[in-house]
Amino acid sequence: MHTLALFDDEAPLPDQPLGPQAVVLRAFARPQVDALLPCIDAIAAVSPFRRMVTPGGFTMSVALTNCGALGWTTDRRGYRYAAVDPLTGRPWPAMPELLSRLAQDAAEAAGFVGFRPDACLVNRYEPGARLTLHQDKDEQDYGAPIVSVSLGMAARFLFGGLERAQPTQKVALQHGDVVVWGGSDRLRYHGVMPLQGDAHPLLGLQRINLTFRQAG
Ligand code: SIN
Ligand code: FE2
Repeated sequence: MHTLALFDDEAPLPDQPLGPQAVVLRAFARPQVDALLPCIDAIAAVSPFRRMVTPGGFTMSVALTNCGALGWTTDRRGYRYAAVDPLTGRPWPAMPELLSRLAQDAAEAAGFVGFRPDACLVNRYEPGARLTLHQDKDEQDYGAPIVSVSLGMAARFLFGGLERAQPTQKVALQHGDVVVWGGSDRLRYHGVMPLQGDAHPLLGLQRINLTFRQAG
């Protein structure tokens, strides 16, 4: 089991299984956080956060950008991965080694060796922003897990079953927590309830989520 003490006088936070091949690695990204935030600013300086339109014509409440060889996008024509940012007409910024390594280490800690992410979706939630229940299924192959890093304000993450109507677990995700799901849990429905609560000391009134995938 992965454990990490945040402070010497604090008990380590135990990992929290969400399924046979799904787990919350509590505070796993904490040691990297100071270095992660400037990486996110650098990515957004090249490919800014923007609110995209779904195929159904709704503007998402979550603003997003990407780094890596492939970036997840949506417009009226559908969801897809693309090598070029539709906003800038240029490739997405490269995935910083720090991010790639963090994702690989988290995957391995959850039991998935050999994870090599080629896409990192960066989601930005402001108060009220939410993500409805969905499956991550735009990737070529479901053999690789999803690695999801939470930063900033706490989220109420929903983790459901393989069918949309199945009950969901509600999981509080804090700054530095990492969720990994793969294998038999790879296509579990998940979502995020509307963001609410107190401003975060480092990030203010926002939550940033990094979702790493092997997309191509
Ligand atoms: C996602 O499903 O793409 C993001 C999940 C999250 O923000 O925690
Ligand atoms: Fe997702």
